[in-house]
Amino acid sequence: MSDTSILTITDLRAKVADEDLEILTGVNLEIRPGEVHTIMGPNGSGKSTLAKVLAGHPEYEVTSGDVVFKGQPLLDLEPNERALAGMFLAFQYPTEIPGVSIANFLRTALQARLEDGEEVDLFDFQDELLDRMKLLDMDPSFAERPVNDGFSGGEKKRNEILQMAVLRPSLALMDETDSGLDIDALQIVANGVNTLREENPKMAILLITHYQRMLNYIQPDAVHVMVGGRIVRSGGPEVAIALEEQGYADWKEQEGDEEGKKEEGKEEKEQEEALTA
Ligand SMILES: Nc1ncnc2c1ncn2[C@@H]1O[C@H](COP(=O)(O)OP(=O)(O)OP(=O)(O)O)[C@@H](O)[C@H]1O
Ligand SMILES: [Mg+2]
Repeated sequence: MSDTSILTITDLRAKVADEDLEILTGVNLEIRPGEVHTIMGPNGSGKSTLAKVLAGHPEYEVTSGDVVFKGQPLLDLEPNERALAGMFLAFQYPTEIPGVSIANFLRTALQARLEDGEEVDLFDFQDELLDRMKLLDMDPSFAERPVNDGFSGGEKKRNEILQMAVLRPSLALMDETDSGLDIDALQIVANGVNTLREENPKMAILLITHYQRMLNYIQPDAVHVMVGGRIVRSGGPEVAIALEEQGYADWKEQEGDEEGKKEEGKEEKEQEEALTA
């Protein structure tokens, strides 16, 4: 492991906690401060699982391997300790929290970082929140709306980035934040993320996406391809461009026909279920 790394993942394997189902099959990845790493890969390849395992989601169990975050073993930490240490996950499917306003939610999250007896200054917080909402071109009335409750898909994604803008993580895991954003919103969110990077040049980002488009706005230092629960190729932005042109057929074949068939069968089944529902 390099001393300058912010995140070092070594041969990480993880399975679904209450099932004998391995999803991450040996992930290796190193991210240094200030870097943007992109993970692309077919549906069901384990991208979200990796993000959730890093954030400490109880749905998954790490079976072997090692993760070091800012020089500390990450896997021993509880999810809230990981957040306090500076890790942030913008969910692919953000959770609705009826009854809790965005302002209260974020104030509570900031409060949790303070020592006992210290209080978030309400006026400073209000100013900060409005400033961050302006950065993301969000209507100030959203501050009083319950978190994600009744939000459109794109509004939820923007709210994830608002959380990131207020919490100022040192490592942001962005899971398909670009999916569901319209073209203008994509640009606003990307500009917001780039402003955060200017404010904190050491902030690192792990950006999960299906589309090269996002990478025109947030330029990655490295692009990784995940297939079958591990990274099968890494390179520069050219990897994303090649994928857009060629798709994943080559890698799926390499993974073996069985794996490919399993996935295909599953997708067909899902489509059938959707049609008959
Ligand atoms: N809790 C779970 N129980 C059962 N299977 C799971 C669970 N979590 C993930 N999986 C399976 O693990 C595989 C990887 O899922 P994951 O959500 O990580 O994929 P992904 O790469 O993020 O896909 P997408 O591009 O569609 O978002 C999928 O086949 C998924 O069905
Ligand atoms: Mg996913």
